Amino acid sequence: MRNTILLVSLPILFVLALNCLEVEAQVCRPSGKIIGKKPPHGKCNTEDDSDCCFKGKIYTTYKCSPQVSSHTKAVLTLNSFEKGGDGGGPSECDKKYHSDDRPIVALSTGWFNRKSRCLNNITISANGRSVVAMVVDECDSTMGCDEVHDYQPPCADNIVDASRAVWEALGVPKNDWGYMDITWADA
Ligand SMILES: *[C@@H]1O[C@H](CO)[C@@H](O)[C@H](O)[C@H]1NC(C)=O
Repeated sequence: MRNTILLVSLPILFVLALNCLEVEAQVCRPSGKIIGKKPPHGKCNTEDDSDCCFKGKIYTTYKCSPQVSSHTKAVLTLNSFEKGGDGGGPSECDKKYHSDDRPIVALSTGWFNRKSRCLNNITISANGRSVVAMVVDECDSTMGCDEVHDYQPPCADNIVDASRAVWEALGVPKNDWGYMDITWADA
């Protein structure tokens, strides 16, 4: 009986372990590609310099993100988590909209790690400053160019997509908001 349980559970444990490895891989390789569709007229919110998908353009997708460390390298981008903002629907973690005056972020799929960081805080560092921000959403690296994703391309595998409060706390002049190299760690 006990052997049977072992025989049955070992492969399951193995698959679980493999899945974990896949999510935060040392090196994250693309998982596929999607071909962009033209957003319907008036769709795709370009506020915060968001990209809209182009018809026929090929976008790379990822199911993983680079391994997390005490100073994980990432690209900080700007997002609105408010209703009607460029973030699309409500946040994945709590199905709510959030004020951009709060330091909150969305993480690339691998780092979001199937909601495991939901409502946890991360410390973001850049410019000799740091800010603690709460994870409320996923920056989907696996899909994009559809209504759910506001007709924006899939995220890269290394994105911390942040509210304006994060950019302000890091002391970045408003004209420079958009893309910036940062490091982050679990707080
Ligand atoms: C994250 O920070 C917020 C704001 O400081 C706090 O309310 C919340 O409890 C923190 N979350 C966790 C999981 O510690």
